[in-house]
Amino acid sequence: MAGKIYSKPIVFTLAVTVAVLAGSIVMMAYPMMRPEMHPKLENLRPFTALQLAGRDVYQREGCVNCHTQTVRPLRTEVMRYGEYSKAGEFAYDRPFLWGSKRTGPDLAREGGKRPDAWHLAHYANPQVVVPRSNMPAYGWMKANKLDPASVKAHMDALGLPYTAQQIAELATRTEMDALIAYTQQLGHAVEKKKMAGGFDLAAVNPFGSSPQAIAAGAVLYAQSCAVCHGDEGHGGIGPSFIAKKFLEQPGYGTDGEYFAIIAGGSDVKKAIGRPGLADGGMEPFGAQIPPDGIWRIVSFIRAQQLHEGSEQPGVEKREHETGGKH
Ligand code: HEC
Ligand code: HEC
Repeated sequence: MAGKIYSKPIVFTLAVTVAVLAGSIVMMAYPMMRPEMHPKLENLRPFTALQLAGRDVYQREGCVNCHTQTVRPLRTEVMRYGEYSKAGEFAYDRPFLWGSKRTGPDLAREGGKRPDAWHLAHYANPQVVVPRSNMPAYGWMKANKLDPASVKAHMDALGLPYTAQQIAELATRTEMDALIAYTQQLGHAVEKKKMAGGFDLAAVNPFGSSPQAIAAGAVLYAQSCAVCHGDEGHGGIGPSFIAKKFLEQPGYGTDGEYFAIIAGGSDVKKAIGRPGLADGGMEPFGAQIPPDGIWRIVSFIRAQQLHEGSEQPGVEKREHETGGKH
């Protein structure tokens, strides 16, 4: 029986084709249609209208040529960027913007890492915030109002439901607003690393950049911190907080990281895995300063950093003044 089919090339070819097709359908096509192949993390929210508009800007400007949006499950990547990427994070990403080139850092965990004001300053002119940056400036986006009609067309194509009002509201917003909104939701579905001691490193400062909080934080800072970190945070016994000098790496920590280090001191800093002075020396203030006070100090430190970032020529003058006082 078996011998016969080998002598009939056409029948044999047809039989093989049918067998291979049937196998492929069972092994590939069928599983692809099953819901397990389309995972969606529980916390994943669809893009808001503004965020989706920002995603369009991201695609149009080719940010993907310099930035990836996927953290590989390798120890070095997880240490640098945070939790590795999950398939279920990308259910609403069409097309994916994973990218393959990292001229700049991965952005998969960028959301919530820094305040909006930082992104505004950075997008407007990256060199102001990170002096050695080679990222292009996008300040002109502040003048570009969104066009609700074109945004709507993109939404319809993706089948995302927004109300007419949500779309009409976009007319008052700029491309810069949209890009920042998009940036701040990156990685929102994945829980950020929590750490020993119960501090939530993803916590967001409830006072933000409120002027009252900054003023109150300045008083607390002068009382408890200036002796080691310098009057304006330029450092002394303790490290400097200002701009790129903080931790001798570009960029700053999250609000939650600042809180944790201030409340828990050097031990917590070690647990977070931040490099710095090796011999400790940062005392925990959690028992002396109530949480609200610590958050106000964080507001103050942020204000110093942004101030420094936007006024490079002021650095020398202020260092000089500080020097004069001592
Ligand atoms: C020519 C390559 C290049 C392009 C194009 C580019 N970037 Fe960057 N980007 C960088 C580099 C390099 C850095 C690191 C230095 C810095 O922070 O400016 C960076 C940093 C960033 C950061 C801060 C990341 C962090 O965690 O420190 C964000 C956010 C960012 N880019 C977003 C964007 C967006 C959005 C676009 C498109 C509008 C874009 N970039 C286009 C190169 C680029
Ligand atoms: C007795 C000196 C001293 C005082 C007072 C002090 N610090 Fe520190 N601080 C240090 C030292 C030293 C380090 C570096 C510790 C390390 O790397 O383990 C540090 C580290 C830090 C860091 C982390 C910086 C980094 O490089 O990771 C933050 C944030 C910080 N201090 C905030 C504060 C605040 C806010 C106050 C006031 C409530 C304060 N410190 C008071 C000495 C001090």
